[in-house]
Amino acid sequence: MPDIYDKIMELAKRRGFVWPTSECYGSVAGFIDYGPLGAMMKRKVENVWRDFYVIREGYFEIECPTIGEESIYIASGHVKGFADKMVQCPSCNEYHRADHVAEANGVSNAETKPIEELTEILRDLPCPSCGEKFAGSEVYHFNLMFQTNIGPGSQRTGYMRPETAQGIFTDFNRLLRFYRDKLPFGAVQIGKSYRNEISPRQGMIRLREFTQAEAEIFVHPDKKDHPQFSRYADMKVPLRGIEQQENDQEAAITGMADAVKEGIVANEYVAYYIALTYDFLISCGAKPDKVRFRQHLPDERAHYATDCWDAEVFSERFGWVETVGIADRTDYDLRAHASQSNETFTVFIPYETPKKVMQKRVKADMGRLGPLFRGKAKAVSEALAEAVPDGDGAKVVIDGEEYFVPKDMYELVEEEVEIRGEYVMPHVIEPSYGIDRVIYSVLEHAYEEEDVDGEVRRVLHFPPKIAPVQVAVLPLMTRDGLDEIAKDIEKELLDEGILAQYDDNGAIGRRYRRQDEVGTPFAVTVDYDTKEDGTVTLRDRDSMKQARVPAKEVPAILYSLIKG
Ligand code: GAP
Repeated sequence: MPDIYDKIMELAKRRGFVWPTSECYGSVAGFIDYGPLGAMMKRKVENVWRDFYVIREGYFEIECPTIGEESIYIASGHVKGFADKMVQCPSCNEYHRADHVAEANGVSNAETKPIEELTEILRDLPCPSCGEKFAGSEVYHFNLMFQTNIGPGSQRTGYMRPETAQGIFTDFNRLLRFYRDKLPFGAVQIGKSYRNEISPRQGMIRLREFTQAEAEIFVHPDKKDHPQFSRYADMKVPLRGIEQQENDQEAAITGMADAVKEGIVANEYVAYYIALTYDFLISCGAKPDKVRFRQHLPDERAHYATDCWDAEVFSERFGWVETVGIADRTDYDLRAHASQSNETFTVFIPYETPKKVMQKRVKADMGRLGPLFRGKAKAVSEALAEAVPDGDGAKVVIDGEEYFVPKDMYELVEEEVEIRGEYVMPHVIEPSYGIDRVIYSVLEHAYEEEDVDGEVRRVLHFPPKIAPVQVAVLPLMTRDGLDEIAKDIEKELLDEGILAQYDDNGAIGRRYRRQDEVGTPFAVTVDYDTKEDGTVTLRDRDSMKQARVPAKEVPAILYSLIKG
């Protein structure tokens, strides 16, 4: 009996949403093609995301290469630590993620277990491919990055990016200047990321090439109050914090201001993006009762995060699927890139009023230092500023050699200096979205089968803003000029920026069903009355209700229904 996943994937393939890639060569697990309707829908979901992050939040979008040189991923920690625990079946030689095998057999939190413990656990467990035991197989780390070479000669190592985030971090200083040296600021990127997943057997959920939409927001380390927090302060969101998980409880519907006040969420920034993510997912068509936010347990957090919440979306086949991660990455990445590249990754924060402080300074007697340290007097005087006076003088080191400077050749003076501000390394708040997972969730939540007059009506209840086709324009007949009128209406709608599709193929009832199945929210039907009184039928996909409206008003009516 096919489940909802089978039904959606059958529909997605048949109607041109998602196809296995390079099918003529047998396709490859973990890669998919978006067909004409899927690619259109994906673009629209990405544009809704842009409406939230680029237009409303004001974070400009950048576009960096998908291949990055090795230093980036040494600094970020991916070369060393971006690995899953893998095991190979001794009987059928198939590879599996060791933690997935363990969890499928009732072991909880397997991802956090050390290699030796997992090897021991797997000994008696059956291979998901052939059913034989894993006994004798070692679990080991498998790095998930795709490695490549850059250029023919030097053979510099490169990696396909495993997240879009690093491009934003490495552009930090340029972005800082772009935003006129002020915190907070943010930048976003939508693009492909690559992970050589061990056994991607979950369709669109686990891919080796997938699209991420990530925002990196740079904030003052001591100021994590979002300037627009009031927008979401009262929003209630299902939160499953650490406490709920430890007590095996469901998510609790919690107001965002309360979540921050009670210390459930680390700060206003994280809370703000939890609420925004809820808002985004619902406006793309996810069902509110099938979205929740789960806090990472301390031993589950990524190496860079101090607090992290996943937006989990419920799928009938896969259960709660992590679809978005919202993390406080602290200054981990900027610190790592500063140390790897020897560049500074800081922001100068001016004080409201400059501070006056007393500062000790060494004043050297150059007239006496000159003859004693011939050619090196200037270096000695500079080194003296750092030297610690010791009894009769101070020891300084110049070019690896130690010199003693008697104390009557310099004096320590105290003077008032004005300090105008300080350098800080910003912290990063990161909402990170898997666009393919958003699309799968929306497909699943939008799908419905209804019995209409003894026939199954399959409908995708997409919100108009993400429906790949927004209006179907259908002439009742392809004669007597009805088709011409319909084509004119289609053109007028396209000119308004509404994605209309003319369709004259088959009986009108079948055409409605075809459009329902791909989620087209409205249909305009041209019939013989149109020729008499200039009206057309406007049909609503969800209620199937129809109304007659003047044809010339159709673009304005649809514009307000779709974009209003
Ligand atoms: N920059 C942070 C980061 O990459 P992540 O939790 O590893 O965090 C963010 O990934 C999102 O990317 C996930 O919540 C998920 O939606 C998506 N994602 C990760 N791996 C994926 C895969 N193999 N296939 C499809 N989507 C994936």
